[in-house]
Amino acid sequence: AKVRHYKWEVKYELKSPDCYKKLAITINGRTPGPSIVAQQGDTIVVELKNSLLTENVAIHWHGIRQIGTPWMDGTEGVTQCPILPGDTFVYKFVVDRPGTYLYHAHYGMQREAGLYGSIRVLLPDGESEPFAYDYDRSIILTDWYHKSTYEQAVGLSSIPFVWVGEPESILIQGRGKFDCSKAGIIPEMCNATSPDCSPYTMTVVPGKTYRLRIGSLTALSALSFEIEGHNMTVVEADGHYVEPFVVKNLFIYSGETYSVLIKTNQSSTRNYWITAKIVGRNNTTPSGLAVLNYYPNHPKRIPPTPPPVGPQWDDLAPRLSQSLAIKSHRNFIHPPPQTSDRVIVMLNTQNNISGYRRWSVNNVSFNLPHTPYLIAYKHNLLHTFDQRPPPDDYASTEDIFSVAENANATTSNAAYRLQFNTTVDIILQNANTMTKNNSETHPWHLHGHDFWVLGYGRGKFDKINDPNKYNLVDPIMKNTVVVHPFGWTALRFRADNPGVWAFHCHIESHFYMGMGVVFEEGVDRVGKLPRSIMGCGDAKGYHRP
Ligand code: C2O
Ligand code: CU
Repeated sequence: AKVRHYKWEVKYELKSPDCYKKLAITINGRTPGPSIVAQQGDTIVVELKNSLLTENVAIHWHGIRQIGTPWMDGTEGVTQCPILPGDTFVYKFVVDRPGTYLYHAHYGMQREAGLYGSIRVLLPDGESEPFAYDYDRSIILTDWYHKSTYEQAVGLSSIPFVWVGEPESILIQGRGKFDCSKAGIIPEMCNATSPDCSPYTMTVVPGKTYRLRIGSLTALSALSFEIEGHNMTVVEADGHYVEPFVVKNLFIYSGETYSVLIKTNQSSTRNYWITAKIVGRNNTTPSGLAVLNYYPNHPKRIPPTPPPVGPQWDDLAPRLSQSLAIKSHRNFIHPPPQTSDRVIVMLNTQNNISGYRRWSVNNVSFNLPHTPYLIAYKHNLLHTFDQRPPPDDYASTEDIFSVAENANATTSNAAYRLQFNTTVDIILQNANTMTKNNSETHPWHLHGHDFWVLGYGRGKFDKINDPNKYNLVDPIMKNTVVVHPFGWTALRFRADNPGVWAFHCHIESHFYMGMGVVFEEGVDRVGKLPRSIMGCGDAKGYHRP
């Protein structure tokens, strides 16, 4: 195994990823940032310099479990203090499993300002996947706002509440196209011919098989990804091999990664559209467009047909059926424990708390403490956050189909303490928002673990009958899973990774508004914490090296 060194400088730069000028957060001048490509077992060392001048930063390695290094998870407020402007922090961790992963900012809502990239972990020499391909490519999908994240964050935490709204553009590998001729657009701010916003083109050779690693790091949007005229065979999800199945369009939620195989077996006399369309929300954001360029056509040659329109935004059925179609590859099944030691039901609701618009789990809206949990638990600074355990369930009288009263919702920074080495089930229960007849889509992401996806259902989870329908035979393991509108999702994991781990909705504004929890497990087994993660809250006294 190798040690791979990266030296990154994080700073604001004016960019025009969708032709419209905005201050973006870049790594070494780029957004998306540099890709990390490594082999299973390698050690990644990232020397990160914060040159944002006035903002803190932290970077999370999404999908990497950080076994033995829980302090390197990069989650500000949970596993480390923020990296202050001017400071350098060294992340060092092992990538212990092959697959497709991501990295992104985990401080405030900085991720959506452009601080993200991909991690590709290859198999050791001599080993091969249960599928064959000629070329390997990565694509990250994001959505893009013209307002600064700072202005958005202020709006979300103001009375009256100012919602972030729908994104202006969808970016495919950091490129999109905003219509500069729109009314009210200052010409100096928008340059339709800027090279920053020429569409992403993926050049392919006819007659080959491509593995395309697709990750989504949208701030808000659920997407349908499609390549005109080409079916996709899904073979990997969040680093786990999938029993292959074919789709025309791939639904992908923020925080998920997939590998699909495509065959370049269409007419090589032309190029084809690649599209990313928002689903699950009624919106007017134009779909993201990129070009599949068949060699030797000119990469700038516009495909002769209109881009595929994609599925209806409000048609839930195909999204639910894709979720249900994802199973573990038959030769790589990790059977789940057949029973669990603890079941936590998590009702997802939108609430007003003291006049603020918030998201809650079992009527508790999450906020981060000043002293990161990992340091607080390890150094016995338990006075730094609420010690009353958050609830394992919600009141059975709650009606998930109507606008909730939730009059007694509160904000808290309490954590769930899990018995080390036990099996935990989480039932994510969706509900009506504060808008009549509306329920949203929430992709939940768990740090430090992969979980088995046991099942999905519509309506209210039935504790007696629904567990009988769990897939305990060949469920896929993932680190991010979607909860569909008015539905539930059941997952199971082993609390076997000593540390403190965030579990939250991957929608940037939802987590910011309280949609998350924290799990502590086996913290007594965590080794000595490095000084470099300290320096804030009650961990101030510990000096940085
Ligand atoms: Cu990719 Cu806590 O997030
Ligand atoms: Cu959400």
